[in-house]
Amino acid sequence: MMLDFQLRGQEARQAMSAIEALLGRMTLAEKIGQLTMSAADQAVTGPVVARGLAQDVRSGAIGSVLNLYGTERVRAMQRLAVEESRLRIPLLFGLDVIHGYRTLFPVPLAEVAAFDVELWEATAREAACEAAREGVDMTFAPMLDVSRDPRWGRTAEGPGEDPAVGCALARAKVRGFQSQDLASREALAAVAKHFCAYGPVQAGREYASVDISERTVCEVHLPAFAAAVDSDVAAVMPAFTDLAGVPMTAHRQMLRGWLRERLGFSGVVVSDYNAIGELIAHGVARDRSDAAVLALEAGVDIDMMAEAYRYGLPPALERGQVSERQIDAAVLRVLTLKERLGLFDDPFRRCQPQEPAAALARRRALARRAAAQSLVLLTHRGAVLPLQQARRLALIGPLADAASEMRGCWALVPDERAPVSVLAGLQHALGAATVKHAPGVGITGADRSGIAAALQSCEGAQVIVLCLGEAAAMSGEAASRADPQLPGCQRELAEAVLARAAELGTPVVAILFSGRPLVVPWLFEQADAVLAAWFPGSEAGCAIADVLTGQVAPSGRTPMSWPRSVGQIPIFYAERPGGRPYAANNHYTSRYLDVPNDAQFPFGHGLTYAGFELSNLQVTPEQCRESSSIEVRIDVRNSGSCTARETVFLFAHDRLASVARPVLELKGWRQVELAPGAQATVLLPLPCRDLRFLGPDLQWRYEPGEVELLVGPSADRARLLSSVVHLI
Ligand code: BGC
Repeated sequence: MMLDFQLRGQEARQAMSAIEALLGRMTLAEKIGQLTMSAADQAVTGPVVARGLAQDVRSGAIGSVLNLYGTERVRAMQRLAVEESRLRIPLLFGLDVIHGYRTLFPVPLAEVAAFDVELWEATAREAACEAAREGVDMTFAPMLDVSRDPRWGRTAEGPGEDPAVGCALARAKVRGFQSQDLASREALAAVAKHFCAYGPVQAGREYASVDISERTVCEVHLPAFAAAVDSDVAAVMPAFTDLAGVPMTAHRQMLRGWLRERLGFSGVVVSDYNAIGELIAHGVARDRSDAAVLALEAGVDIDMMAEAYRYGLPPALERGQVSERQIDAAVLRVLTLKERLGLFDDPFRRCQPQEPAAALARRRALARRAAAQSLVLLTHRGAVLPLQQARRLALIGPLADAASEMRGCWALVPDERAPVSVLAGLQHALGAATVKHAPGVGITGADRSGIAAALQSCEGAQVIVLCLGEAAAMSGEAASRADPQLPGCQRELAEAVLARAAELGTPVVAILFSGRPLVVPWLFEQADAVLAAWFPGSEAGCAIADVLTGQVAPSGRTPMSWPRSVGQIPIFYAERPGGRPYAANNHYTSRYLDVPNDAQFPFGHGLTYAGFELSNLQVTPEQCRESSSIEVRIDVRNSGSCTARETVFLFAHDRLASVARPVLELKGWRQVELAPGAQATVLLPLPCRDLRFLGPDLQWRYEPGEVELLVGPSADRARLLSSVVHLI
């Protein structure tokens, strides 16, 4: 073991000296080439289009390429680099493999709803295998931006509202994408993005400015990035946004100070798409050269699509605004990453022949499981679910037969096997003859002419399933919505169907497709059940059928507090109490006059077909020191009639501290699957260090005193069992 370690150390040193020798042979233009990433046009993910890729590769003017994939194309482009460029340095190919490559898993926010860390890792692993085989070296994922604002479209791409969830997601995804060995043919370099605090853009509007407290940055937005660095993430991407006036792409204090110096991150910092160029629009750089200086000084190694380094660094160097040493340091990091990816050994290592069918089948099966686990049963009245076999269904709504919408945002690569629509999934599960389909209206638009036919299809149905929601393109980047309700005239369709169903006495199950919580309180009141399906990916219809028919009991939990009203946004459970916390009988307490304070559904909410009872909370020891650990145990019993999975959350509340602490803070969760009547004791370990917080000076501190520990199925305080631990 020791010997192996020494050998590896030796190998690394040899590789390093080879890279340094290579650096010594490079011209300035070739060095800057290694810091330049250009896009091909196989996918479009930004506003600027690059041209002349092949010539630039031959001349060494670019060192990495984005938006090019596919074994043959990558091979051809790589050949130009390693056969026709002077120094034969291999290219690095990057692509947004966000929730799958060809096979699509649920969009990240949906997958987060599964609260299954092993699943998060497994889907990243499968996505990496599929993408790496087609020449991709690096994925611009995981996206770790905590979002407490469903208006922001990129909410769909990340961990939801909670920093602890962000940390667990970061670790699982980095492990999954990168595997044990970055040089593996099936590994991708991961990029933790967008560093940092992109989520709280002003009023949820994409690309807007961010101005939040340093405490919130440290407590909420940085931890997931620290976890990614701790997991040896290969690269980090700064956000487009500015933080209190300093664009993240030029944020020396955050990139050099926090990321590199404090966390010791030695990987690559890759800019976002044209973000260095956009420093001009931010109003902090006069021209591209100025922008290049700011970004390089801040610690950005790769310029994605701005060509600011290419055209801006040479004059800046001449003027003495940057040094060649700074450029060299960035080039070394890029070359080291290429070395870690094994590209110098074999630049074609990630271009593999077609996969065996068994691998595809395994991946599709995982996509189906992931999709089923990500569905959140928000409401359920009158035991309408699971659907009985041979029931006559009316399947209504614009998302019922919308296979390609199931892919969600960031589905860049086509797949010859179309995703499964809800219609196809239910027809397959229940028999084609039992499902009568009528779209009613479009996802958007004002055409109401199909509503009559939709109402007609309700006649004779035993259950009505309404498929409503957003188009896939309505979440993700550049997809903020001021009013995240149902678009178009879907509400009109739904209300007409609900009214007709009430007359007929037919139950209505609504399935909501969206990249965010949708504000539809009227639907929650009127439908017999509402299932949040998000965008479930390739196996959408099968997974939805699995859950509707009870093959799989629903187990997803909302990773965001679900607002009742847009006016409640930003909404999150971990708020501080304030001096006048809400009290029903006191007017002068924190409240709205027109809507309740609480969420429509709290963080962690999600129903199932079984019933779980939690009891006997035990916390040992009752006293603990910073270096010790607490064991929290709770009994969970399935009192229902089917096997199901329960998620148990552990929260803490430090009621008296030198700084006001949130009313609840997530400290961990566990899942348990239980057969009817079965009981298990769930253990939630809690290192006491996790009860530290940032003091008034923003330094971590462990403060003696009492901390309340609360355990239960969601952040709804009324459902939490609690105990007190004494920190000494
Ligand atoms: C997005 C990034 C993405 C990049 C490359 C940008 O517009 O903000 O998340 O990785 O494009 O496609």
